[in-house]
Amino acid sequence: MSELSPLLNDFTTFGVAAKAKSVHALTSTAELHQFLKSPQSEHSLFLGQGSNVLFSSDYPYSVALVRWKGKQVKLLSDSEALLIAAAGEPWHELVMWSLDQGLGGLENLALIPGSLGAAPIQNIGAYGVELKDVFEWCKAVHRTTLAERTFDAEECGFGYRESIFKNELKDQYVLTEVALRLSRNAHRVNTSYSPLQQWFNQASLHAPISPLDVAKAVCSIRRSKLPDPKVLGNAGSFFKNPVISAQKAKELSAHYPETPLYPQANGSFKVAAGWLIDRLNLKGFKLGKAAVHEKQALVLINSGGASGREIVDLSKHIKKRILETYGIELEEEVTIY
Ligand code: EPU
Repeated sequence: MSELSPLLNDFTTFGVAAKAKSVHALTSTAELHQFLKSPQSEHSLFLGQGSNVLFSSDYPYSVALVRWKGKQVKLLSDSEALLIAAAGEPWHELVMWSLDQGLGGLENLALIPGSLGAAPIQNIGAYGVELKDVFEWCKAVHRTTLAERTFDAEECGFGYRESIFKNELKDQYVLTEVALRLSRNAHRVNTSYSPLQQWFNQASLHAPISPLDVAKAVCSIRRSKLPDPKVLGNAGSFFKNPVISAQKAKELSAHYPETPLYPQANGSFKVAAGWLIDRLNLKGFKLGKAAVHEKQALVLINSGGASGREIVDLSKHIKKRILETYGIELEEEVTIY
């Protein structure tokens, strides 16, 4: 377990300046146990790649970086395999590695920044697929008792960018390992998400579409509208797409017939927050050095040297405008400290 400089600037994709009491890189689960037994672990924060976190000020306790690695494939049958990997594996590299092994299932989730251990916590999703669709189990260590527990998909209580680890069990467990059920030989690709469908229509591929083709398409679409965090600090979508009642959806489309609405199984509707923000002409809007991305209004960026506070102020401004205009309350997807 090595102690690093307490500066957090390089440990979140927003790249804002902040300081912790101390920062510890944990490169094995033995080091995790050692850390959890130490006094620094009290109120500490575990960070993967920091792609969904914003520090609005200094963090008064310790930060532990999840850096333990390792991955293996267990064949289950001719058509299925389990990919079992350590929480510190970088997500996109794992996706590309799984495709290289001839495994399918993660292709729609290519290029999502972050680490494997964080993926179940907010049930990452993109282009018609969510982590829960391939999730088999995860192992976790309780932060105070150090007891190990395995959670299956049902126990994780997955929802839209939600799981038990953000709710009832918030800050209680550290995920150590995750198993994903993937396809081999007989793949069933999902190109139902309309921008993906359009991409394949234009590409006019004749051979059957492979998982790797889907990953390439997803990467190309993402690169065309989402800023690379290495170039412009950001954490992907800053807000969740709000879920509204059928009545509210009816009122909204009466006022704004072109509102993108997605019907949910329980009769409610998800509304595209990016569209709501964009309609207020807020793309490119700046408050200090924080800005709304020019190509995707749901993404807030650090245009260079922004403080976490400036980004939070920008998000408050957007929330206020959305509430005043549409009577809808936006909820952050990003966790703010
Ligand atoms: N839209 C606009 N203007 C904008 C942004 C979006 O009009 O500035 C419209 C689009 O034209 C489209 C609709 O809003 O009709 C939805 O946009 P998009 O397909 O870009 O997806 P999103 O709902 O904004 C969600 C996820 C993304 C994920 C994409 C693709 C959330 C909060 N965000 O974004 O996830 O990559 O779908 O599946 O659910 C993330 O969670 O960090 C993230 C990037």
